[in-house]
Amino acid sequence: MRIAATSDLHAPLGAWNSRIDATLLDAEPDVLVIAGDLFNWMPNPRHGLLERLRFYSEIDVPVLAVLGNHDLRLQGGGECALQRLTGLFPDNGVHCLDNAPYVHDGVGFVGCHGWYDSSLVADKGYTLTELNRCAYDLGERRHARWNAPDSVLAAKCLDKMRDDFARIECDDCVAVTHYIPLVSGLSHLGDYELQLHDAVMGSASYGAWYEKEPGITLALWGHRHWPFGRQYDSFLGCNVAYHQRFPLTVLDKTSSGWKRTLWPCPDNKC
Ligand SMILES: [Fe+2]
Repeated sequence: MRIAATSDLHAPLGAWNSRIDATLLDAEPDVLVIAGDLFNWMPNPRHGLLERLRFYSEIDVPVLAVLGNHDLRLQGGGECALQRLTGLFPDNGVHCLDNAPYVHDGVGFVGCHGWYDSSLVADKGYTLTELNRCAYDLGERRHARWNAPDSVLAAKCLDKMRDDFARIECDDCVAVTHYIPLVSGLSHLGDYELQLHDAVMGSASYGAWYEKEPGITLALWGHRHWPFGRQYDSFLGCNVAYHQRFPLTVLDKTSSGWKRTLWPCPDNKC
């Protein structure tokens, strides 16, 4: 199986999306996964959403997506956005993993936006006041207008993915979030120094579950706009964000696990 993955397309920022359109056809995937932030603010959201979704409806392979923070600002924000956007998706050829899992050719897909809590910086000793201020200043909840605390939202996302995983009974499963699921997923730099704003970049709870669950063999996320991959004991973890040189991350299932290629890949040196 070949998965083409990307995220953070932020339509209607046209150039990015048209590059994806051309590159996608070339990659010939079996499944397209979009790890959130399909959209950006737009003056006429409904028209803009439908216009972009129309492209996905014409793709001849399953299109699976989770919502990102920019998507969750649209259509009334938070729960409203979740209901309205995920309601629009099925009629336009997109399966929203925030709604339900998916199985293709024996491989399961579970996903959720993957809201943040402060667990990525748990070891840094930040005070509650610092964390609350960070969530207020830099967090997305003001725009998304959720009616529950961040930690409750993150726990709800994790429960949902675990329930979906149990339901589909696949021992080869891809987990997709928009936010970042583990500390080492924050940066492609091995010696990355954690900072206060990483408190609102994701939740370590998702990665902790992936590490304990051998059925999760591939984890995809976005949010930070720099694609990279890292092999963990039991799964390959990849930030699949759009990059102007490599619009897509291609993941091929091989007998020894998932193989990651940035696409297009000149000289096969990615
Ligand atoms: Fe994002």
